[in-house]
Amino acid sequence: MYVVGIRSLGGKFPIAGFKAIWGTFFNWKIIPIVFFFSYLLLLFRSTLEEQEEKKESLKVHVARLKHMKNVLQEEVRRLEREARRLNETLRPEILFNHGQPILNESDDVPPIFFITPTRYHPAQKADLTRLAQTLKVVPNLIWIVVEDGDRESVRFAAFIQSFGLQYIHLHARTPTNVKTKNAGWKGHRGVVQRNQALFWIRTHFASTTRGVVYFGDDDNTYDWRLFREMRTIEKVGVWPVGIVGMKLVETPVVNENGTIIAFHAWNPRRSFPVDMAAFAINISLLHSYPAAKFSFDVSAGYQESEFLVKLNLTRQDLEPKAANCSEVYVWHTKTQKPSLHASERRKFELQEDLSEIEGRSVL
Ligand SMILES: *[C@@H]1O[C@H](CO)[C@@H](O)[C@H](O)[C@H]1NC(C)=O
Ligand SMILES: *[C@@H]1O[C@H](CO)[C@@H](O)[C@H](O)[C@H]1NC(C)=O
Ligand SMILES: *[C@@H]1O[C@H](CO)[C@@H](O)[C@H](O)[C@H]1NC(C)=O
Ligand SMILES: *[C@@H]1O[C@H](CO)[C@@H](O)[C@H](O)[C@H]1NC(C)=O
Ligand SMILES: *[C@@H]1O[C@H](CO)[C@@H](O)[C@H](O)[C@H]1NC(C)=O
Ligand SMILES: *[C@@H]1O[C@H](CO)[C@@H](O)[C@H](O)[C@H]1NC(C)=O
Repeated sequence: MYVVGIRSLGGKFPIAGFKAIWGTFFNWKIIPIVFFFSYLLLLFRSTLEEQEEKKESLKVHVARLKHMKNVLQEEVRRLEREARRLNETLRPEILFNHGQPILNESDDVPPIFFITPTRYHPAQKADLTRLAQTLKVVPNLIWIVVEDGDRESVRFAAFIQSFGLQYIHLHARTPTNVKTKNAGWKGHRGVVQRNQALFWIRTHFASTTRGVVYFGDDDNTYDWRLFREMRTIEKVGVWPVGIVGMKLVETPVVNENGTIIAFHAWNPRRSFPVDMAAFAINISLLHSYPAAKFSFDVSAGYQESEFLVKLNLTRQDLEPKAANCSEVYVWHTKTQKPSLHASERRKFELQEDLSEIEGRSVL
């Protein structure tokens, strides 16, 4: 259009005409200014875009943080619940006695803390059933059942609860590769479980001074009169035990004035030649010697003796019970290892393919 227009001016001064028109609008000096402003415009535009992008990504970030906050809050609540649950399982209030408090202060008799280590084997349910029904007739007894395992099994918990006893269900796993001192494996069964129970008593009954602690294995046989004997213990009570230590009975020998003068027992040279079932101790003694516990580092057959040594006792401290050790109220009975077909034992050990009725027979 311009060119046509310029030509129409006559063709003589087409360039000059153009220059004239152009010159009025155009100045070389403008160029850098135009460039400068275009540049500013571009810069401004890209800054805007950048900010827009930044804003978007911040929004995303905020949303993500909000989400994380929710997740973490949920996790905190979950952990708090878990902490409360763990705390509760250790609280004596959860002991069951048809809703009754576990220590009846108005009750005359001092409480008996009855400690039973137990492990998974085919006769476990049978042994514990027999024991639970014995304990049912004993007033003011707290049964501390300690499973050998990494956790408390749900089946076991339901089973123990079903007896309506005052009890607490704990667990402690026996280490598999423990070094024992001159001792066969069997010599040191129950070490960690008994210690777990002692820890529980010391923690939750720290201010309880009245009461006795007894180590009651699940396959022994107990006459209810044994428990009556325990209530009068001042420091440590002792009594005969039937069929133990290759003898019909092991017993402290008591003279006519009621003093223990010897022991009829396996290896009477031990400081305290007594079986686990042959003594009970005052709970106060447990608190006075907080380091006293069972150990893998003792010779076979010395668990009881070493434990009593740690309680700073002498033989003179032993109080003969059961009519000056003239009655037998407890027997060291042993449940025979049942003979099972290899396939049955396998089923039991793997806890697989058990029929419903088989499942009810074991724990
Ligand atoms: C656990 O229980 C004790 C009292 O039995 C209480 O003082 C403590 O605050 C509890 N801890 C938690 C985490 O609930
Ligand atoms: C506590 O013991 C007393 C006396 O033996 C008895 O009368 C009372 O019913 C018991 N209370 C509970 C809650 O067990
Ligand atoms: C245990 O010791 C305490 C404190 O010395 C005492 O009050 C109690 O009568 C003793 N015996 C029993 C069985 O609690
Ligand atoms: C009790 O018997 C022992 C040993 O037979 C004797 O040493 C002690 O003097 C007697 N004590 C009493 C109070 O009779
Ligand atoms: C134990 O023997 C002493 C001394 O003979 C006697 O005083 C006491 O009554 C006896 N205890 C029991 C429960 O028989
Ligand atoms: C052990 O018992 C004796 C006598 O009862 C006492 O004198 C001593 O202080 C006790 N030792 C410890 C470590 O408590």
